[in-house]
Amino acid sequence: MATASAPGKCILIGEHAVVYGEPAIIAAIDKRTTVSCKKSDKVRYLDKRFDTEGNIWPVNVVLSDAQKTQDLWNACAIKKDFSMLFEHVKKNKFQNYRKTVVGIILSRLNIREGVSVEISSDIPISAGLGSSSSLAVALTKSIAETFGKRVSLSEINEIAFELEKIIHGTPSGGDNSTSCYGGLLWFRRVSGNPSIKSLKEEIPHKLENFILVNVGTPVLSTGELVQIVRNLPEEKRNKHVKAIGAAAEKMRVALSKKDMITVRNCMNTAQENLAALGVSTPEINKLSAAVRDIAGAAKLCGAGGGGVVLCYHHEKKKLLALIKKFDYEPIETDLGVEGVRLEK
Ligand code: MEV
Repeated sequence: MATASAPGKCILIGEHAVVYGEPAIIAAIDKRTTVSCKKSDKVRYLDKRFDTEGNIWPVNVVLSDAQKTQDLWNACAIKKDFSMLFEHVKKNKFQNYRKTVVGIILSRLNIREGVSVEISSDIPISAGLGSSSSLAVALTKSIAETFGKRVSLSEINEIAFELEKIIHGTPSGGDNSTSCYGGLLWFRRVSGNPSIKSLKEEIPHKLENFILVNVGTPVLSTGELVQIVRNLPEEKRNKHVKAIGAAAEKMRVALSKKDMITVRNCMNTAQENLAALGVSTPEINKLSAAVRDIAGAAKLCGAGGGGVVLCYHHEKKKLLALIKKFDYEPIETDLGVEGVRLEK
């Protein structure tokens, strides 16, 4: 038996633009998904957030169904439209997703035996905080450990990225990289490959006065929101994607110098451009306008369409009072925590 956990993530800046090769700054948060695995005759899958009983399938069914889902991903990639994939994975309470993630890991690690998987998490689902990426990373590590497979962090990250593709279509890989390596990362895709740089030396200080606020579960999934941006006219999309990328570059320097006025401005610029890309909501716009009015910053976090808003104010008390006025629950979290790890 082996238990592994991996953190969720919070994108300080760069979501959506990162899918198009722009950089993002992403922090691991101190909320984790934990996965326990043990060898079994079949594949057993229990996610304690949703199930009392869970699912059981023969190993060969899991392997062949995982292949079918990956074939569907390839067909969708040619069409540049992943709606059929999203429909497929959601079916029967996400059974196709569940079979596929386990099947991909077993096949990538050359395992032809069954495994019993048990999942728990304190990361809110569909909130933009990396619940799926932390699951992908912790599940890979836990299965590998159960079968005595030595895997490096970069191999775990590569497999977790394949899992993320099944649920998000064309993710950037930033979320799984952060769940895997932890810390505060500068992430971008260069010619399709991930480029991951730890910002630990550049930004060694604790990031303070940031608060997360969940404004409600999005109706659309990350993949569907990424598809909305992909469907925009290229010229319009590029303009906003580039503006977010430029703000991320600026924010990296500002964070290293503790120039929080520039950090604040960069976050607000990102929010304006994300709203122009069509992934904000009236609730997010209302909250971010109010935070701006008191000289703070607020931007959606992750794919948007609801979920978590990252807020900053140099006087935290003022921000907390405003959040209270809105009747939202503040979520305080450390930014830049440890990545995937084995648990006792
Ligand atoms: C989702 O957390 C962030 C997006 O940029 C998608 C991705 O990077 O894969 C919207």
